[in-house]
Amino acid sequence: MAARGLGLLTSLPLRARRSQVQRPLCRLLSCPGTVAAALGREEQSSGSAETGSENRTPKKRFSEVQKERREQAQRTVLIHCPNKLSEKKFLKYLSQHGSINNHFFYESFGLYAVVEFSQKESVASLQNVTRTPSLGTEAAIPFRSRYFNLKLKTPLNQTSEQPSIQCRTQSSPSSRKLFELLCCAESVDDQLDTLLRELQLTEEDTKLRYLTCSLIEDVAAAYFPDCTVRPFGSSVNSFGKLGCDLDMFLDLDEIEKFSTHKASGNFLMEFQVKNVPSERIATQKILSVVGECLDHFGPGCVGVQKILNARCPLVRFSHQASGFQCDLTTNNRIALKSSELLYMYGALDSRVRALVFSIRCWARAHSLTSSIPGAWITNFSLTMMVIFFLQRRSPPILPTLDYLKTLADAEDKCIIEGHNCTFVRDFNRIKPSGNAETLELLLKEFFEYFGNFAFNKNSINIRQGREQNKPESSPLHIQNPFETSLNISKNVSQSQLQKFVDLARESAWILHQEDKDRLSPSNNRPWGLAALLLPSVANSMSLAKKKKKPASERIKNLLESIKSSSTENSTATNG
Ligand code: GTP
Ligand code: MG
Repeated sequence: MAARGLGLLTSLPLRARRSQVQRPLCRLLSCPGTVAAALGREEQSSGSAETGSENRTPKKRFSEVQKERREQAQRTVLIHCPNKLSEKKFLKYLSQHGSINNHFFYESFGLYAVVEFSQKESVASLQNVTRTPSLGTEAAIPFRSRYFNLKLKTPLNQTSEQPSIQCRTQSSPSSRKLFELLCCAESVDDQLDTLLRELQLTEEDTKLRYLTCSLIEDVAAAYFPDCTVRPFGSSVNSFGKLGCDLDMFLDLDEIEKFSTHKASGNFLMEFQVKNVPSERIATQKILSVVGECLDHFGPGCVGVQKILNARCPLVRFSHQASGFQCDLTTNNRIALKSSELLYMYGALDSRVRALVFSIRCWARAHSLTSSIPGAWITNFSLTMMVIFFLQRRSPPILPTLDYLKTLADAEDKCIIEGHNCTFVRDFNRIKPSGNAETLELLLKEFFEYFGNFAFNKNSINIRQGREQNKPESSPLHIQNPFETSLNISKNVSQSQLQKFVDLARESAWILHQEDKDRLSPSNNRPWGLAALLLPSVANSMSLAKKKKKPASERIKNLLESIKSSSTENSTATNG
């Protein structure tokens, strides 16, 4: 996978920023896998949807966005289409059921259309003229979903002159394209913005995520009518990268809201229910039946696994039509609130998302994060580290969570399972930061800050925005912002933390070195962010000189010597 992507880099011309020389990016050939791994993708056709690729900084309240998107998804259908199709006739056919607000096509092992009607009734009208297929030797389990299969009674002639259907790309650009874009950028700031623009979720991808949740809700409603399935995590917190998983929350509390709990006179009615010994067992039982339901009746749901003994029980499956890897949980309301908090932080300053995307991408490129659970740092933890770092700037770029709490009003009050999750949700009440530091500086300072952070004694805490003594001995301690006695990075091992520190130091060193090179424009290697996504020098140095000082120590010393030499205005550095 990686080799294919990188092989193409042989002929990639690099427009060097500092020198005007054009040379192939030969160095990339000697770094198998790095960027392709970062993107987790094969070489794919690139291009992003018109409506979603611009650097959008959301300003609407999280709850407003969720409500709007959810309502939109309920009026939307997903249709598997034949490859040869007349778009005009297709839309005319569907318009019989009501006017269409919006539609787009995408490819994922076949051609799919996402069609949003203006009215919910149009969906019912379409369902009423839809039949359950007769499959010959196999038998169909009837299910009236909003996921359809369109067949043509008379297939279109292969040679017929139909304008081809424009598909929206749901995948991130290839590693080659991304490197090309990064190397051609004007500045490191421009590189960070480019990365964000290329990797962020498009409008179409976001619509498809809400639609998938809505389709799963239809299945879960077979057991729990009036339940709600909400997306959370990176699909909605504004830090999602194309191809990220789809975290779903099965919300059963909504059901409660329908009953008015009216006690009339001396009478109070309660439902007869089955009792189980704990909340956790109730969660496991609910997810178990929903998992069965998805497995047996959920159109397009494949590879259903019930992971019920995890700390947070979940049902994992692939939604074939959208291509999303889905994790369905319930009784996980705090995670939804965390998504809202991250969404707020992402919207407060345009530098936040650009920095988080770059750090996440950098971590993936160096295998600091992984899609497999283990002793690695997670994207969630990395995002917390960036937020914390931005709170520590002078003046701060982001406010602390405690400060956001002081700005809250009665409507913002939120207590979940005894935890105070209150913070202001109106952006207008938060003053913009007076800090004007560039992304380039912030990137460099991030690596330096965490390359020298006293992880052995200090904890990271976005609630107070300052280091605190670690309350326990885990190598990395990042306080859970709402369940403050918990550490969200308890799983991280000492060796993984050390790898993070080594790479942070090395990256700071690379960026400082580049600053120095600016005075002598002699090299035309990948620069800035592109250089940081290449394999670690520290790894190869530490292999070659294992018996000497640890690589990270040497890099730290080098970094210090570069810094002191630049302060003394000297060009002689022992790099
Ligand atoms: P991706 O890697 O892009 O999927 O990022 P993500 O933010 O979606 O992370 P993930 O899918 O691992 O988790 C989904 C959400 O669950 C996160 O955004 C958090 O809100 C929450 N979450 C994840 N890990 C933890 C944890 O260790 N503790 C707590 N309290 N919440 C967590
Ligand atoms: Mg996720």
